[in-house]
Amino acid sequence: MSQQFDLIVIGAGPGGYVAAIRAAQLGKNVAVIERDPALGGTCLRVGCIPSKALLESSEKYFEAQSEFEEHGISASVKLDLTKMLARKNTVVDQLTGGVAYLLKKNKITHIAGEATITAPGKVSVGDQTVEAAAILIATGSKSAPLPGVEVDGENVVTSTEALNFQTVPEHLVVIGAGYIGLELGSVWKRLGANVTVVEYLDRILPTMDAEIAKDAQRILKKQGLTFQLSSKVLSAKAVKKGKKIQCVVECEGKEPITADKVLLAVGRIPNTENLGLETLQIATERGRITVDENYQTNVPGIYAIGDVIAGPMLAHKASEEGVACVEKLYTGYGHVNYNTIPGVGYTNPEIASVGKTEEQLKEAGIEYRKGTFPFSAIGRAKALGQTQGKVKILADAKTDAVLGVHIVGPRAGDLIAEAVAAMEFGASSEDIARTCHAHPTLAEAVHEAALAVDGRAIHF
Ligand code: NAI
Repeated sequence: MSQQFDLIVIGAGPGGYVAAIRAAQLGKNVAVIERDPALGGTCLRVGCIPSKALLESSEKYFEAQSEFEEHGISASVKLDLTKMLARKNTVVDQLTGGVAYLLKKNKITHIAGEATITAPGKVSVGDQTVEAAAILIATGSKSAPLPGVEVDGENVVTSTEALNFQTVPEHLVVIGAGYIGLELGSVWKRLGANVTVVEYLDRILPTMDAEIAKDAQRILKKQGLTFQLSSKVLSAKAVKKGKKIQCVVECEGKEPITADKVLLAVGRIPNTENLGLETLQIATERGRITVDENYQTNVPGIYAIGDVIAGPMLAHKASEEGVACVEKLYTGYGHVNYNTIPGVGYTNPEIASVGKTEEQLKEAGIEYRKGTFPFSAIGRAKALGQTQGKVKILADAKTDAVLGVHIVGPRAGDLIAEAVAAMEFGASSEDIARTCHAHPTLAEAVHEAALAVDGRAIHF
């Protein structure tokens, strides 16, 4: 006899497990099917969390080497990479264990294995069949391949393996100047590698505001990252040179680059294989599952959220959609504001953004006013020794509504939360300008940028 549930969620990443918990809170009997032994998805296992653990550790190493002295601290510093990687693994284990605990606490059934939808309401996992009125696909994404780049998991790798290099590469070539490339490039640069970032476009971070991306590039270049922009990668592969293995990256019209490791980070593609999409004729568009405003596919009772549907491939976007999907399904209401989904790059300094970029406003013909404020004029940033970067606020020229906020600077990823909340409440730049911000904090840069929209910043 098959097991019966109200909802089957396929995939236990930040989209799937969050949707499952919300559905359980709403009194539903829920099963989560996951093929990986650890819960938490790419984000927890081989994405956001391990990369942040390594970013933090490598930052401490770099600070101890290069910045302690300025504070009057002398220390002799030695890298123990094995221990650093072990700490990262502990952080991951604790959090994936935490998800298992949360499922249990919410009485959600965890089924291990790979799921295939065999008919509406029916899912097979190994030799079991599980049934439910609703099925939610939340299977996430994987690293996108690039023709000519021969990923071997050892020398030419994806982000998964680049989180686990057992020695610091002498020269790492990163293909793609997106979030992944810049974050992992930063990690290995700080730990001592030479890092060359090869990017197809003439700029880094193509989805970010161009001015902020340019500032970020200048700062990262100062840290020693080498950028080779406007470079189309034709091939990358590991070749044997005597006893040594060497990677060669060939770009159109440029000298080949040799390296000991190559990281391919040119985007991600949805995990939709073996789900039964073709059999059930579930519609897709450019590889991503098509859904309506209720996250329902063209097959009634089958839903999809997160990286497998359109939109930015971000953990928090998937979680929001997971909650909205089950709330719509079981309560009739639920909502995601796609205009206020923040994006954060965890380089040092961080890069964060919400709403429209200046380029998007120009393209849409929307008149705007702009206020910027540099961290160099913020007391707390000076005390921290992190004065690079700025806050930029874009407000509607007529209504003063905040349309976009873009930050490169210390703790930008935390500072953006104020901008997100302001936009969610429909705030004007004047609202932020009239809000009291504690002194001395980094948030004062947001306050001053809001004042600058009206030409009345105090400290600049
Ligand atoms: P991405 O889409 O952010 O950036 C890929 C970069 O590769 C782009 O700049 C693109 O122009 C470049 N590229 C494409 N083809 C190329 C070629 N043939 N040669 C050279 N460059 C080429 O992708 P990324 O960094 O792999 O991240 C994947 C997804 O994961 C993104 O959707 C991102 O939002 C998400 N992510 C988010 C993070 C965060 O929020 N901090 C961290 C890591 C990933």
